[in-house]
Amino acid sequence: MGILEWATDPWGQRVPIHIAWSLIWVALIAGLLFLIVHAVYVGFFVKPKEYAETAPPGYAVGLPRRVPRHSLTARLFHWIMAAAMFVLLFTAFLPKLGVPFNWVTYHWIAGVVLTASILFHIIHASFFLDFWSIWPDKADLEDARSRVMRWLGKPGSPPRKSAKYPLDNKLYHAVIVVAGLAVMLTGVFMMFRVRTGILPRNPYLFSDMTWGVMYVLHGLAGVGLITLTMAHVYFAVRPDKLPITASMIVGTMSREFYLREHDPERWVVRRQAGSAGEPGGLADVR
Ligand code: HEM
Repeated sequence: MGILEWATDPWGQRVPIHIAWSLIWVALIAGLLFLIVHAVYVGFFVKPKEYAETAPPGYAVGLPRRVPRHSLTARLFHWIMAAAMFVLLFTAFLPKLGVPFNWVTYHWIAGVVLTASILFHIIHASFFLDFWSIWPDKADLEDARSRVMRWLGKPGSPPRKSAKYPLDNKLYHAVIVVAGLAVMLTGVFMMFRVRTGILPRNPYLFSDMTWGVMYVLHGLAGVGLITLTMAHVYFAVRPDKLPITASMIVGTMSREFYLREHDPERWVVRRQAGSAGEPGGLADVR
């Protein structure tokens, strides 16, 4: 049994038609294993975090009680995208797991919502947010190195606290960009195969082989998103990450959490004179 399903086209050529649906189980089991191994590791083996202190004494003075983290626009994007993602996953995979229903229409509509929200996010993040804040930088790599050294029991200075996004968030984002763009680009072309009323139906746009590769890429990225979504939800509900999850709803996090987990030199939060200790005193929600 392979990872692809094949068929023979009218000219006798063997072409892939889509992934083998058993990969859905591989993705689910991989996700489950990841959660279990991570929870056991963090619960029983990880030592308390140690950071190099970079905040000057008295830094907290002037910070508002609630530090702004996600603007309303960014939060709306996140939750619209999340809803579309769940609809896409369930409509794509439930029928393959033996729950038959007329899924294609719901699926492509959610696909259009996801595509529109991703395009919006690219423009919003590039021109209105701090674009580079989500990509690994030199300090992340240096800190990752010293973390590995310390984990191996070798001498290494304690890592700095994270910038707005820790390295694991940044790496997760990079992987989801690849899977998300793959599923989005292939999905847009696949809309030519079904009657949508938006794009003219034209199943002859590509050769059977090209369509096959497209369906395979769509399926591979799709099952990858099962595992990635499971990991994302798991981190969102972990007790140590709840303040971050809450900030995706209310937009802010507590000053204490900010100072405990973030390096104020790497995630600079602007204050306003006379705003000491008051919510809303910060203007920087990027
Ligand atoms: C989480 C994201 C997504 C997942 C997991 C996913 C998964 C799938 C799967 C497994 C199929 C069945 C393919 C096959 O039979 O080989 C499919 C079909 C389809 N997908 Fe997606 N997809 C996603 C996103 C999208 C997006 C963003 C679009 C549109 C922009 C889209 C449009 C379509 C269309 C039109 C079909 C039907 C093709 C047909 O029946 O010929 N999908 N999707």
